[in-house]
Amino acid sequence: MFLTFTFFCCLKFYQICTMDISIDIEKYILEHSAPESDLLKALYRETYLYTMHPRMASGYIQGRLLSFISKLVKPERILEIGTFTGYSALCLAEGLTENGTLVSIEVNDELETRIRKYFNCSEYKERLQLIIGDANNELKKLKSAFDLVFIDGDKREYCEYLNLVKPLLNKGAVLIADNVLWSGKVIEKIEPNDKMTQGVLAFNKQIQADNDFENFILPIRDGLSMARFAPKA
Ligand SMILES: C[S@@+](CC[C@H](N)C(=O)[O-])C[C@H]1O[C@@H](n2cnc3c(N)ncnc32)[C@H](O)[C@@H]1O
Repeated sequence: MFLTFTFFCCLKFYQICTMDISIDIEKYILEHSAPESDLLKALYRETYLYTMHPRMASGYIQGRLLSFISKLVKPERILEIGTFTGYSALCLAEGLTENGTLVSIEVNDELETRIRKYFNCSEYKERLQLIIGDANNELKKLKSAFDLVFIDGDKREYCEYLNLVKPLLNKGAVLIADNVLWSGKVIEKIEPNDKMTQGVLAFNKQIQADNDFENFILPIRDGLSMARFAPKA
């Protein structure tokens, strides 16, 4: 237990360092922002104790931002690609309209039990739909449109997700994509075999060049691409 806790603290420290935010500033932010729910706290802790890559979870600051944006958008329908343990899905669900629903797609079926455990404890449990499958296949089966989309799957596939998601967007929909600064690699010389960075670069280029989107990059955590779907026609 002690070793696990020490590992957790080291990872947390590393995460703070890589965000370029001092520990004191992080502490100040935590003390002066809306708290996360006890359910999210428990899920985040369990994610660090029992999963291989816990840093993938959105966590407190990004989670509060996703919740805040969702509350502003007031979406009837939310789509997420890449559930992981469900942290971001539960944050996004906080802004759903009364009868609104969230669909989250996760390819790793080993995560299903943990995701369902936390979804079932949530006040939104009746309105959360988990699809276990590859987003590249599952997105083609979706029929109704979405008001808020969070792309957080495989970085190599971001452009494919964008192409599949675009026809599913309501006018005025907000699309958010995570990790678009990819630890700063987007401005470094890339290796020919670095498909992840290439995927992120291609996505950033594609969404900026698409006149149907108004976009900007928010330099929070690993970079969030924020885009509003505003087609002229
Ligand atoms: C960064 S994690 C998601 C973190 C989560 N959104 C959060 O913020 O708490 C990325 C997840 O995407 C999943 N994933 C990768 N490729 C996928 C695909 N093609 N379809 C669905 N999920 C995928 C991975 O298995 C992983 O759990």
